[in-house]
Amino acid sequence: MHIPFEKNRQLQRRAQAVMPLGVNSNFRFWGDDITPYVSKAKGAYLWDADGNRFIDYRLAFGPIILGHADDEVDAIVKREIDNGLLCAMTSELEIAVMEKIVAMCPGVEMARLACSGTEATMHALRVARAYTGREKVIKFEGMYHGFQDYTLWSTYAPVEAYGSYRNPIPVPSGSGIPRALNELIITLPFNNFEILEKTLRSLGHQVAAIIAEPCMGNCGAILPAPGFLELIRQKCTEYGIVFILDEVKTGFRIANGGAQEYYNLDPDMATYAKAIGNGYPLAAFGGKRVIMENIGRGVSQGGTYNNNKPGVAGAYATLTLLQERPILKTITERGQRLMDGIQQLFSEAGIPVVMNGYPAMFSFAIGAEKITDQRSWDNSEKEYYLRLIEAAIERGVMPDHDPREPWFLCYAHTDEIIAETLNVMREVIRTVKR
Ligand SMILES: Cc1ncc(COP(=O)(O)O)c(C=O)c1O
Repeated sequence: MHIPFEKNRQLQRRAQAVMPLGVNSNFRFWGDDITPYVSKAKGAYLWDADGNRFIDYRLAFGPIILGHADDEVDAIVKREIDNGLLCAMTSELEIAVMEKIVAMCPGVEMARLACSGTEATMHALRVARAYTGREKVIKFEGMYHGFQDYTLWSTYAPVEAYGSYRNPIPVPSGSGIPRALNELIITLPFNNFEILEKTLRSLGHQVAAIIAEPCMGNCGAILPAPGFLELIRQKCTEYGIVFILDEVKTGFRIANGGAQEYYNLDPDMATYAKAIGNGYPLAAFGGKRVIMENIGRGVSQGGTYNNNKPGVAGAYATLTLLQERPILKTITERGQRLMDGIQQLFSEAGIPVVMNGYPAMFSFAIGAEKITDQRSWDNSEKEYYLRLIEAAIERGVMPDHDPREPWFLCYAHTDEIIAETLNVMREVIRTVKR
């Protein structure tokens, strides 16, 4: 990094003595001597330990939808936590949050809270298994549903390990994931209609759930091919499978009602976290009443912190603002300008690029022509992307350096900030050699 970085390096050395890699999540480690440490964040900006200021397009990997340390949300949280942080008892505020979730998310008739996206998908899978009396789960290569063992397969492994395209092999994402779970997971390439139908013809009646992100939010924001999510819906109905839409990244971000509203889709269950609380920790899973009401009637679910007051109050405040103001519409307009601007810059430079995702969370794959799944995405110019992003970071614009991770936008990204970002991108595309 050609920016002041000494304090970051010192913190990393201190941190590495007490934390593996010096971080509390593998995704936050960028490498020795180049991993930044944060000192504060406000609005669309964050400052690292050396005082370098960045326009933040990582936004904690999606939760920040209004802006860091939003004054209105924080005021409500501060007011509410004066009345106690945690009780093993349900509060009126909590009920109001659940009412908002049910009102905003089209297919959700009942929901339960959790603390993280990982928990939400874990709970949803158990409920789906209980409801169907089956155990196998289908997930798509390159999709990520949190750190629970059931779906941490064929997510980050080198795609060469995934076996043939028509006959994929599930690959655990690292050691420690029980081999026995291999029996329960089926991994398929995203967007392939024929392979999904063929798999269901032979195994459909053993499958409890198909879990899918609406777009590949953890692999270049690859969009669903027209009709693919609808095919999942149709086949789930045909085979009695629970369709779980993982909206941890898209929920309360691409539309108030997430991808269900965006695509007019009707999954059986959906999972949420991230933007639900503008950074306060909360998650939810929900779905059709006939499925959800099994919880507590022979299906276990709970969690000490599921109704933690900061999370509940943060969600109450955030969802209220999303309901009352055209926040996501504004983010979409600004994000579209940024997407179009970046595409134009690459086109002027004669560099082929595929833009993917939604204006509120988008990615671009360089040197690619058509991308439908993780395998085709893997051929894009990832090393060049990394060098471009490093140059942007040195100039104060910080998307994640990992090309799988989308650029996230929030309401605090003003028109001026978008224009400044495009100026930086113009410069780095001109100066960084492909
Ligand atoms: C689609 C999806 N599902 C689940 C998760 C897990 O969420 P959490 O990190 O809150 O456990 C993530 C996290 O990035 C995600 O993107």
